Amino acid sequence: MADGSAAAAPLLEARGLGRRFGGLAAVDDVTLAVHTGEIHAVIGTNGAGKSTLVNMLSGELAPSSGQVIFAGHDVTRWPQPRRATAGIGRSYQRTTIFPTFSVFENCRLSAQAMRPAPWRFWQSAQHDAHSTRAATQALADTGLAAEAGREAGTLSHGGKRQLEIAMCIATGPKALLLDEPLAGMGAEETGRMLSLLEALRPGHAILLIEHDMDAVFRVADRITVMVNGAVLASGVPEQIRSDPAVQLAYLGGNEAPTLAAEAAALRPEGAGPSLQRPAGRPS
Ligand SMILES: Nc1ncnc2c1ncn2[C@@H]1O[C@H](COP(=O)(O)OP(=O)(O)OP(=O)(O)O)[C@@H](O)[C@H]1O
Ligand SMILES: [Mg+2]
Repeated sequence: MADGSAAAAPLLEARGLGRRFGGLAAVDDVTLAVHTGEIHAVIGTNGAGKSTLVNMLSGELAPSSGQVIFAGHDVTRWPQPRRATAGIGRSYQRTTIFPTFSVFENCRLSAQAMRPAPWRFWQSAQHDAHSTRAATQALADTGLAAEAGREAGTLSHGGKRQLEIAMCIATGPKALLLDEPLAGMGAEETGRMLSLLEALRPGHAILLIEHDMDAVFRVADRITVMVNGAVLASGVPEQIRSDPAVQLAYLGGNEAPTLAAEAAALRPEGAGPSLQRPAGRPS
């Protein structure tokens, strides 16, 4: 984390965010903050609610309760395009590129989508120039400049995920919501992606959803653990690593995730004082 960023106002916040699907509380009263210059990882077993949380932060899904605050503004009711234009960028859990287009075209289209002004046909050349510049810069920033002319579908799996980050960067985001950017990657590709995230950290507030614990503990400044839609713990990596409830629920690996609630109940009063506990939940 950038020095002093904890004292600065967060760029992106979830405040008591919740989303129900029928009787299921997919996300339940989640509060977290992401600062510029920080990688905040959200971990949790399958179905914990991580993607649902990202979808509410990006504006693709309306929350059932709570607020999303971005740069001090309540953006809860802003639709996704407005949030994207304001600087909330995201990548998806499933690869979303145009495989038959070039790497460069993928980035340019992404940049262009940020400045839709089809009725201003007389400005289209200028509009194009902006998108071209943004795409060129995004490819340079993400180490893909040499692949610009290549058909996107011919990239390796890791290359495609890198391109998704580049497409996001081409939109000029201040916050990056990355839903499992490392999924399906080998060690070398993972290393490259982590270096990229570290390079992007200054100047961006990064929310990283990830299952690869080694990777998370390598790059995250802060980690929030979700279980059954709710926050079990949130803290710096050392706090999370040594948190008994987290170990029991998640990091042990062999224990069933359903033990999480039991683990939380077993927590001695006052243990782990520096961990954030969701208000109203037993600590
Ligand atoms: N559109 C939907 N309609 C109904 N239920 C949904 C919907 N989207 C998600 N869910 C449910 O909400 C819960 C949380 O799903 P979510 O995709 O957010 O989990 P996740 O933590 O991202 O899981 P994974 O690690 O597998 O990606 C799951 O039980 C899921 O089945
Ligand atoms: Mg998910």
